[in-house]
Amino acid sequence: MRRKIVAGNWKMNTTVQEGLELAEAVAKNAEKGMPEGVSIILAPPFTHIAGIKEVIPDFIGLAAQNCATEESGAFTGEVSAGMIASAGAQYVITGHSERRSIYRETDLELNKKVKTAIKNKLSPVFCCGENLDERQKGIHSEVVRKQIEKGLADITKDDFQKIIIAYEPVWAIGTGKTATPGQAQEMHHFIRNLLKELYGEKIADQTSILYGGSCKPSNAAEIFENIDVDGGLIGGASLKADDFMAIARSF
Ligand code: PGA
Repeated sequence: MRRKIVAGNWKMNTTVQEGLELAEAVAKNAEKGMPEGVSIILAPPFTHIAGIKEVIPDFIGLAAQNCATEESGAFTGEVSAGMIASAGAQYVITGHSERRSIYRETDLELNKKVKTAIKNKLSPVFCCGENLDERQKGIHSEVVRKQIEKGLADITKDDFQKIIIAYEPVWAIGTGKTATPGQAQEMHHFIRNLLKELYGEKIADQTSILYGGSCKPSNAAEIFENIDVDGGLIGGASLKADDFMAIARSF
């Protein structure tokens, strides 16, 4: 059975105090009981991780939103996977479209980040997805194929078990425009088949593939209903504890 996961990507929002309050509100709601087999993960800014670790129960996962390609050394301003793990996180988002487009992160760099994350016992939440132009040209599958082939190259089958994939069409992120359930299922199915081709049937069956892009309480159920959609990576709606938890309860 694949894990069902709802992860909240807070992006560059909240002060430390606001983040603690948000995490506590999520924890309070989650402690009332979670739907069978559903895990939740919070991805606050780096500065919040260690503090939030102290106020949430162990069953709520913690993620960073990015990590350095290198392990340590003279890289002013970078945060390594080892530091993130030592702050109490178990996951790290890699290759979010905002990192790819605004900070020009390349497939090769992302491949390094995934590897250093795994080496430091973090589970990468590897993001992929096409932009509007690529969707309109009908090349979305090829774009996602290339992102996965290059970003997740040379990973052993054993290590691959730690990876979670998030399919996030860029045109749906923060735009209020969600992929239709049909579009989401089509791409998730494509990704699962690609994993089968690259890493075999077992990995393809076991890997959780999350949908991201304007997911909210009103549309989560119809997206999560699809056979190849194993949950969501939630941006805007994760900043309100009630909305985030309503999404987590949509299965
Ligand atoms: P959104 O962001 O839910 O605000 O569209 C999703 C994401 O960027 O992960």
